Amino acid sequence: MTPFSSPRFLLPAVLFGSLLFLVACSAPPGNPENGKTWYMMHNCSACHGPHGNDGKAPHIAGLDLSFDSFLRKLRSADSAIMPEFPESKVSKQDAADIYAYLKSIK
Ligand code: HEC
Repeated sequence: MTPFSSPRFLLPAVLFGSLLFLVACSAPPGNPENGKTWYMMHNCSACHGPHGNDGKAPHIAGLDLSFDSFLRKLRSADSAIMPEFPESKVSKQDAADIYAYLKSIK
């Protein structure tokens, strides 16, 4: 048996590979059209403006945040003004749609 096919080498390699796979897949592909609907439906527009750059809250059109940071912001806004959006309100898929929508506008 060569050292590279020994289980002691393969197991960590497989685990590390799966980890990379999970990280790469943590942002589900979003649909910007649906995202626009959720954006309006959940009243993000009331604070961030109908175009994401014309409200009282910070501009989020064209968003310069990773999907993970975006999701964290929704789940735990850590803010006196911005409400929290738990999974029961905005699913991960809906969040990905909104993210795709915000990325698609400037
Ligand atoms: C009641 C007003 C309000 C609503 C509704 C609201 N937000 Fe916010 N949001 C804010 C305020 C104020 C901030 C800035 C303070 C902060 O970061 O906590 C903010 C910050 C953010 C940020 C971080 C921006 C950055 O550059 O760090 C994101 C992303 C965001 N909101 C997305 C959303 C989305 C998506 C929705 C709808 C699902 C939404 N917000 C609904 C008020 C609101």
